[in-house]
Amino acid sequence: MTKDINKDVFSEGTLLKLGIFAECFREWFPVFIHNLFTKGIFIADFFAGSGRDAKGNLGSPLRLLEEAKGINRIYCNAVLKNNKEVVFAFNEKNKQKEAELEFNVKTFMDQCFKENCNRDKCIYSYLNFSQYDFKDVFYHEALSKILADRDYAKFILLDQYGFSQVDENVFLKLVNSPHTDFIFFISSSFIKRFKEIDYTKRYIDTERIHFSESDPKECHRVIADYFQKLVPEGKEYYIHHFTLKKGPNYWGLIFGTNHTLGMEKFLKVCWKEDIYSGESNFNIDNDEPVGSLFFTGETTNKKTKLKDDIKNKILSREITNNKDGLKYALRNRCLPEVYISAIQELEKDNSVRCFPKFNKQTTSIHKVDIYNIEVLKNDIYKN
Ligand SMILES: C[S@@+](CC[C@H](N)C(=O)[O-])C[C@H]1O[C@@H](n2cnc3c(N)ncnc32)[C@H](O)[C@@H]1O
Repeated sequence: MTKDINKDVFSEGTLLKLGIFAECFREWFPVFIHNLFTKGIFIADFFAGSGRDAKGNLGSPLRLLEEAKGINRIYCNAVLKNNKEVVFAFNEKNKQKEAELEFNVKTFMDQCFKENCNRDKCIYSYLNFSQYDFKDVFYHEALSKILADRDYAKFILLDQYGFSQVDENVFLKLVNSPHTDFIFFISSSFIKRFKEIDYTKRYIDTERIHFSESDPKECHRVIADYFQKLVPEGKEYYIHHFTLKKGPNYWGLIFGTNHTLGMEKFLKVCWKEDIYSGESNFNIDNDEPVGSLFFTGETTNKKTKLKDDIKNKILSREITNNKDGLKYALRNRCLPEVYISAIQELEKDNSVRCFPKFNKQTTSIHKVDIYNIEVLKNDIYKN
């Protein structure tokens, strides 16, 4: 039987996972509070737990609520001013844990009111705490309606145990829902270990996954690639992942968004955690460690490989403007700055010319001023 995560003190890995959830939400939430086209914001934590661990550390639902206030309640005020509807929904199947969650949320809210809230009632709405099995609530008509609503931005957290809850159908439903960003947890090492077992095959098509026996640390990357390949062909969609090593096991997070800004934000969180590769709590690409003579944050193995790849793609005219180059960096799970290093090096050796005007913009790339790239000479990088 799975150990109850809330009965003990959260491990270091769990705290990191919860920190990533919170930071990701911190980046995501204000975007939609200030988005003129968003009527409402829906935040769901479908595997919410009881709210705290044995020591009182905040679990995911309380972390989301804490983030939703913002410093000095800046977000509460902005939500009111911008007339947005914000709805939180927490689900926990275990009856006792759900009761604890209800108590913990109520206590949290009471405290929040006491801290100079100066309002009669919270401006955020809370859907009744439910004790559903995830799939029952996920495929419920009411939820399907919310997910399909283009006027609502959705942030979906799926902190499952194991791997059986987020299967291909769940994943595709999320991918195909407009304005919906999600993060789910998955026990990648278990899938690798039990890939031949019928139970595993019921949820994950392990025939389509090729694990490297000699390189177990790759296993969550391989799982992320499996999900990436499920995205319908031709759809602009971004997937990123974060490996959490715990002892000999590799668990991880998978993030999905259909917007470059969502990907920029999640990458920012991950690259802050992991300055080598932006995707793990250890040195996954065997970089020179920080402090060593050869380490410079600019030239980690992953960034150098992508920079060379981008240069080749520019010189072979597969990337012909900055927007495509910036998006290519995102799709390859690096911050867009890598594209800027590549184009600047090519400009410096007179291999390319940018027109009408070069710019260095690397954030909010959906709004970037586009310039074209003309290849002047192509004798350095060959395909
Ligand atoms: C990894 S824990 C989530 C922990 C939570 N994020 C926190 O920060 O405390 C997974 C939770 O999902 C619940 N759960 C397990 N199977 C479920 C299901 N099929 N539907 C809904 N909840 C489920 C478990 O009782 C457990 O509390």
